[in-house]
Amino acid sequence: MRAIRYQPDRLELLDQTRLPHETVWLTCRTAEDVYHAIRSMQVRGAPAIGAAAAFGLALEARRLEPTDARSRLPEVAAWMKTARPTAVNLMQAVDEVMAALEEAPPGWEADALYQRAVAIAERDIETNRRIGEIGAQWIAKHGGRVLTHCNTGSLATVEYGTALGILRAMHEAGTLEHVYVDETRPYLQGARLTAYELQEEGMPFDIITDSTAGFAMKLGWIDAVIVGADRIARNGDTANKIGTYSLAVLASHHGIPFYVAAPTTTIDLSTPSGDDIPIEERSATEVTHWMGRPIAPEGASARHLAFDVTPHHLITAIVTERGVAVPPFEVSLIRLCGTR
Ligand code: MRU
Repeated sequence: MRAIRYQPDRLELLDQTRLPHETVWLTCRTAEDVYHAIRSMQVRGAPAIGAAAAFGLALEARRLEPTDARSRLPEVAAWMKTARPTAVNLMQAVDEVMAALEEAPPGWEADALYQRAVAIAERDIETNRRIGEIGAQWIAKHGGRVLTHCNTGSLATVEYGTALGILRAMHEAGTLEHVYVDETRPYLQGARLTAYELQEEGMPFDIITDSTAGFAMKLGWIDAVIVGADRIARNGDTANKIGTYSLAVLASHHGIPFYVAAPTTTIDLSTPSGDDIPIEERSATEVTHWMGRPIAPEGASARHLAFDVTPHHLITAIVTERGVAVPPFEVSLIRLCGTR
């Protein structure tokens, strides 16, 4: 399954606000088109928004005269980074594609940016397969019944996925028994997107409401929890979809291992701890309304924090394409990222 298609003059995104019932491809031809697709969550998931942003800058470079590209793109790049503040992959990918601009011979700016964006996308696929292989062996030793949150699959990456990639690899290896999918209020990434991907692949699953997770653990349904990440601080504190922190507390209470799966590009060694991670707060109407229709009394106020931070002491291990980081994360993450 692929939700991102690219060519030098356009980026096509499978509109994730319309899934699972409608398959609508959105065509982006400018950086502004891509910025809005990221902001409105038509494309979402940390690695996917990073790759999309890289292509967005490459599209802009193609629209501009080569000399204008060098003077104008830094401003566009800075603006692109503001589309969503929490996922560090967005900032990483923008910086990476802008480094290609610096290195490009005069006249080759647009090609250099596009080639770097393609490299970012292709690297993401390889990275996810490796996370899948490594994580499947690690998780399977606890058992085959796994709870996951949000969507970390092909839709959230360029292909295959991170936490969901591990579930895919376990399914391929015959060690996956069952996936419990948190529906993930309010955007319903679990119920709409993860369920869609698991169903496409014939993987066994049940959707549960977010508030069922604790009792499911109590009932002995869950062998391990596995989630993705939007930013991992140097001490291992991990920002991910709102609700992740609650799951980690519940897993700790029930003695269930709690894993994070992410590419090393999600590890931000310049951020000392979770207290320093910017948390996106989205519109309250995403909580009070569903598909444009109110589900709360008119005028009711709401808070919509899109992410939370799980403190490192609640995390059993972090699975990356370079290996598995275990506590103390201050040491293991630096070791994993050392040669980045
Ligand atoms: O708001 P979203 O849907 O972009 O949030 C996505 C998540 O929190 C994912 O778990 C994370 O980005 C990792 S995706 C491989």
